[in-house]
Amino acid sequence: MAISTTRLDRFISESCLVNRKSVRLILAQKRVYVDGRVASDIAQLVDKFSHITLDNKVLQSNQAHYIMLNKPIGVVCATKDDKHKTVIDLLAPLFAQNIRDSLHIVGRLDLNTSGLVLLTNDSRWSERLTSPEHKIAKHYHVTLEQPLTTEYIGAFAKGMYFSYEKITTQPAVLHILSTYEAEVTLTEGRYHQIKRMFGRFDNKVLALHRFAIGKLALDGNLNTGESRSLERFEIMNISG
Ligand code: URA
Repeated sequence: MAISTTRLDRFISESCLVNRKSVRLILAQKRVYVDGRVASDIAQLVDKFSHITLDNKVLQSNQAHYIMLNKPIGVVCATKDDKHKTVIDLLAPLFAQNIRDSLHIVGRLDLNTSGLVLLTNDSRWSERLTSPEHKIAKHYHVTLEQPLTTEYIGAFAKGMYFSYEKITTQPAVLHILSTYEAEVTLTEGRYHQIKRMFGRFDNKVLALHRFAIGKLALDGNLNTGESRSLERFEIMNISG
């Protein structure tokens, strides 16, 4: 979902209903500010989050939102669903309807997976986090039905062939915590990936919880179902 940009002269022309020649004059007179800086270049690109003023009147001011949610089991990672509560439903009343309507989910979790879910209306940010080149680590805590063995570590690191997608999974890190518990780090998000990887060993995942994405850990003060806005440093540093 690439964020669309438009030229500043076009933006001014359309929002103030003036012709391009008048826009050139307005810009030359240094009456336009973009994100607090005087803007005189007609070809400057602006997007939906650019703060734009003309003669100190705000022409556009759309805020970007970055939210973390502690997703409970049984809530679906979708914007609308007929059967289940959605992650968007959980954001009310903390985030107003118009904000909730603008959001998309950055990397879904299954219905029966809990933990860290990110939501935003900034598609440039979400694309960076989900694009395969950036290989952002997703960290999970897993509880299994059968005992773990060290054999799993090599198999996760080597990658597994998924015949349906015709891909081999990226190297994954498996760290055994106890007989039935492990931490798994993935740099991608294939459909039911962790369950399918343990499925190769006929070992059923009993519980799956995402506790961090990149450098951002789920806030321990958020109870299940609770959410909060990210701090600026969290937004900037998540990918390291
Ligand atoms: N792997 C899964 O199987 N499910 C998730 O929700 C995330 C990773």
